[in-house]
Amino acid sequence: MAARCDVVVLISGSGSNLQALIDSTTGGDHPARIRAVISNRADAYGLERAKIAGIETRVLDHKAFADREAFDAALVQAIDAYAPQLVVLAGFMRILTPGFVRHYQGRLLNIHPSLLPKYKGLHTHQRALEAGDAEHGCSVHFVTEELDGGPLVVQALIPVESNDTPESLAQRVHVQEHRIYPLAMRWFAEGRLRLGPSGAELDGQRLPPSGQQLRN
Ligand code: GRF
Repeated sequence: MAARCDVVVLISGSGSNLQALIDSTTGGDHPARIRAVISNRADAYGLERAKIAGIETRVLDHKAFADREAFDAALVQAIDAYAPQLVVLAGFMRILTPGFVRHYQGRLLNIHPSLLPKYKGLHTHQRALEAGDAEHGCSVHFVTEELDGGPLVVQALIPVESNDTPESLAQRVHVQEHRIYPLAMRWFAEGRLRLGPSGAELDGQRLPPSGQQLRN
């Protein structure tokens, strides 16, 4: 059995993805162990979720730092205190500096509520509806210096219904997020997923540009 994979999760809010990751690791033998949860907001509900699960928490308020570089430098220090093999962004609402991203090259994952490369940034559900898309979903990707632009690992696709609203879509996409993020974390922790020279690889095979796609 390979060594356990220590994970640090970064959050800013409710932390429902964090909860899914926690739930996936409890009970049974899981190769990942969430060592700590770090939030830039003291009122993030995800901190409560972590405490309930007996996971260490830290708050690093970005407003207490002179600039983005100073915040990210402190964040690197806080994360590296746990010497994680993997850092997971789970609703962490900060744009990261290139230096931060380079430091965690190949061991930094993010989840985004759209079928990337469509709808980088915010208001993804609204934008999918306005475009009249027949399908929508979410994506897990390795983080690179391009915002929401790194190599894709896995996507979950859902059909858009004629009576969908941004809220109803958000709700159904969230359910899928809670399915694919634990899956990607497990792949990584098992040593099956890595960032190769030309993209994400699963079991030594280059994944397609869209990552592995799961249809519902
Ligand atoms: C999710 O929609 C995720 O895709 C985005 O931020 C949101 C976080 O939600 N990156 P939660 O805090 O995990 O509930």
